[in-house]
Amino acid sequence: MKRLPIGILGSGRGSNCRAILERIRSGDLAAEARVVISDILDAPILDIAREFSIANAYLPPGQFRTRLEPDAENELVNMLREAGVELVVLAGFMRVLHAPMLKAFPRRIINIHPSLLPKFPGLEAWKQALAAGEEISGCSVHYVDQKIDHGEIIAQREVAILPEDTPASLHARIQIAERELYPAVIAEFCERYQAAGL
Ligand code: GAR
Repeated sequence: MKRLPIGILGSGRGSNCRAILERIRSGDLAAEARVVISDILDAPILDIAREFSIANAYLPPGQFRTRLEPDAENELVNMLREAGVELVVLAGFMRVLHAPMLKAFPRRIINIHPSLLPKFPGLEAWKQALAAGEEISGCSVHYVDQKIDHGEIIAQREVAILPEDTPASLHARIQIAERELYPAVIAEFCERYQAAGL
């Protein structure tokens, strides 16, 4: 079976990464995680990669806070290409990507975000939804472009906001939905890859 080679990028806890790696390990997902890369040296997502014996690397991001320095972004392209990655999966990667990555992987970079985009891009989207008095929130998987949490939406899952919700309880429920939605979307990419290429 032809497995889709993916690279996972993240800055934090890595619960989405874990869900994807578990699905691959259990045989549910016809993907192969070639590398996990983080812009944070001690990010738990790198420990998860090690736990699953996946190649992993820290990418020093440079001096900027919300993006990679151009040299670092070029280095990221090289790392992903050398690993033979066909689909780049952002899983809590908290930097905006620019031309080097977008040109190297056109319509080959996807992101998950904890809101029903286009509502509430940016940080702590679940808090934004609560503050806005929404009754429904959820999560979105989308193609990545040069704007924050922006780009063609691939799939969404709704999560009801309950009257007793706190930011933490809402975020936890959205993350449960994320861990189902993201592997399901990647599975569709795998099917396409097996049938005809991405
Ligand atoms: C996820 O909830 C993801 O949707 C969010 O970061 C979290 C990472 O969690 N991403 C964004 O907000 C992107 N703007 P994880 O490290 O446990 O997967």
